[in-house]
Amino acid sequence: MTDQPTYDTGLVAHGIDTTRPSVARVYDYFLGGKDNYEADRELYRQIMKIAPEAPEWARANRRWLKDVVTWLAEDRGVRRFIDAGSGLPTAENTHQIAQRVKPASEVVYVDNDPSVVAHGRALLLDNDRTRFVAADLTKPADVLADPAIRQLLAPGEPVALVMALMLHHIADYEQTREIAREYVDALPPGSFLAITHACNPGDGGPVDVLVTELADKVRHAFPTLAFRTVEEISSLFGEMEILEPGVVRLVDWHVPGGRPEEEPEAGVRDAIYGGVGRKR
Ligand SMILES: C[S@@+](CC[C@H](N)C(=O)[O-])C[C@H]1O[C@@H](n2cnc3c(N)ncnc32)[C@H](O)[C@@H]1O
Repeated sequence: MTDQPTYDTGLVAHGIDTTRPSVARVYDYFLGGKDNYEADRELYRQIMKIAPEAPEWARANRRWLKDVVTWLAEDRGVRRFIDAGSGLPTAENTHQIAQRVKPASEVVYVDNDPSVVAHGRALLLDNDRTRFVAADLTKPADVLADPAIRQLLAPGEPVALVMALMLHHIADYEQTREIAREYVDALPPGSFLAITHACNPGDGGPVDVLVTELADKVRHAFPTLAFRTVEEISSLFGEMEILEPGVVRLVDWHVPGGRPEEEPEAGVRDAIYGGVGRKR
């Protein structure tokens, strides 16, 4: 078996199943990536019929990631990052953003998608301050026991744990809260948790209607995907101090003391929320 796709069987190296869409690959396709297959592109087309603004959600999410990581590295002196649910490598990855500000920044990526493990790993490991852990984030004890994570946490310096568009892939809400709590408990004081998450206001309004239809459409492919209310997303921060401007629409998020971006396109406004918390 080689590292190259073997399209005839629908299976490729490292357990990649090309016959079913993968979250990482569909998302990567929204960002213009190349590591995708017909099953991913078919789901993309179905999503686009309901939410043609979805690629803008993905781009807004990457802009948010860049803003948050840059701000944490530049203004809050963070040198250690865990990118949990990193996805396939794209134009600007967490280590590139952080190490541009501070070359000594260390980043550990975690993901369990076979495509990310197989194709992403090499590209994300372009220097010795960057590591990749192939693990299931719903098992915090296993992830926290990994040597790369232990090494990152060992000095007791503040760490930024980034969980961008990841926690909404855990269906059960209480389990999601518990998982977030276990990770935060393991972080040194002064650490940060940065989350973006799919939102359904649950108010019967247009966003509720849109994301309910979207959730129905993708359920066969992503059965654990959970859109949550702003209150539910906020409570994933547990006891942390949620920093300005709070848990808000992604497009309204700005670095504390900064200003929001220009007014976004209408469609992207309400379906993805983000926020940053600080451990006291
Ligand atoms: C939509 S992508 C987001 C990628 C990136 N964080 C971003 O925001 O641009 C979600 C990623 O989370 C990963 N993921 C979902 N559930 C996971 C789990 N239980 N363990 C590890 N990774 C997971 C998926 O494999 C995918 O790469």
